[in-house]
Amino acid sequence: MDWGLQNRLSRIINPKTNRTVMLAVDHGYFQGPTTGLQQPGKTIKPLIPYADSLMLTRGVLRACIDPGTEIPIVLRVSGGTSILKELSNEGLTTCVEEAIRLNVAAITLSIFVGGEYERQTLLALGQLVDEGNKYGIPVLAVTAVGREMARDARYLGLACRIAAEIGAHFVKTYYCEDFEKIVEGCPVPLVIAGGKKLPEREALEMAYNAVSRGASGVDMGRNIFQSDHPVGMIKAVRAIVQKNASVEEAYKIYDDAKDKKTATV
Ligand code: R5P
Repeated sequence: MDWGLQNRLSRIINPKTNRTVMLAVDHGYFQGPTTGLQQPGKTIKPLIPYADSLMLTRGVLRACIDPGTEIPIVLRVSGGTSILKELSNEGLTTCVEEAIRLNVAAITLSIFVGGEYERQTLLALGQLVDEGNKYGIPVLAVTAVGREMARDARYLGLACRIAAEIGAHFVKTYYCEDFEKIVEGCPVPLVIAGGKKLPEREALEMAYNAVSRGASGVDMGRNIFQSDHPVGMIKAVRAIVQKNASVEEAYKIYDDAKDKKTATV
């Protein structure tokens, strides 16, 4: 792998642990002002010290993130649809030159395997990998799941493998039963999305199970920023991913942070 590309990837996935805690805050690109992200700058700022990278769009990056911040950026460059329309009809919204100008560590897009516009999104992935390779910028493929698709190892394994075959340097998918089969069939690092907000202990269990079964970490959004204590939650997730903490140890980190907050209110 090209030195620059590997160097950028190493800023996201810590080479000492081979793990990463990515904070996903790109939801507004098709959902608008998502609960917890109505004021993205305010939500994101206290979480930055505990994240290994931030996944977001150029609009929120420019408007809400201090350019003096050192955190590596994973820039979402796909979109073009909203929750009001067919979600798989995505295209590239941001060019690679813009990603370079913004000094990002990686670029990312969604693929919709099995979706109405599957082909269009897979060809966009190929195009983005070609562009990324030209400039040494790794590409993260997000396996977006249409409402009609089952989130099982067979489907997600198919989507992850296709993403890797087309050239994605790392892949984001969902955790499910038999997750190790997805890992086995995907020759590049995998991170998991958190999905819909769960009770904190369940979200921590999911992160724990994912890394125990071979994930390189998480790219988590709602289960962190929609928590009643987002800082406590990201610290807890970080303890699992980067420090191999147990679910109990991690939950205590979250719970202690919540107690402190309650005590000061
Ligand atoms: C989805 O389209 C976005 O890429 C989100 O970043 C992704 O779903 C991860 O966020 P969450 O943990 O909230 O599922």
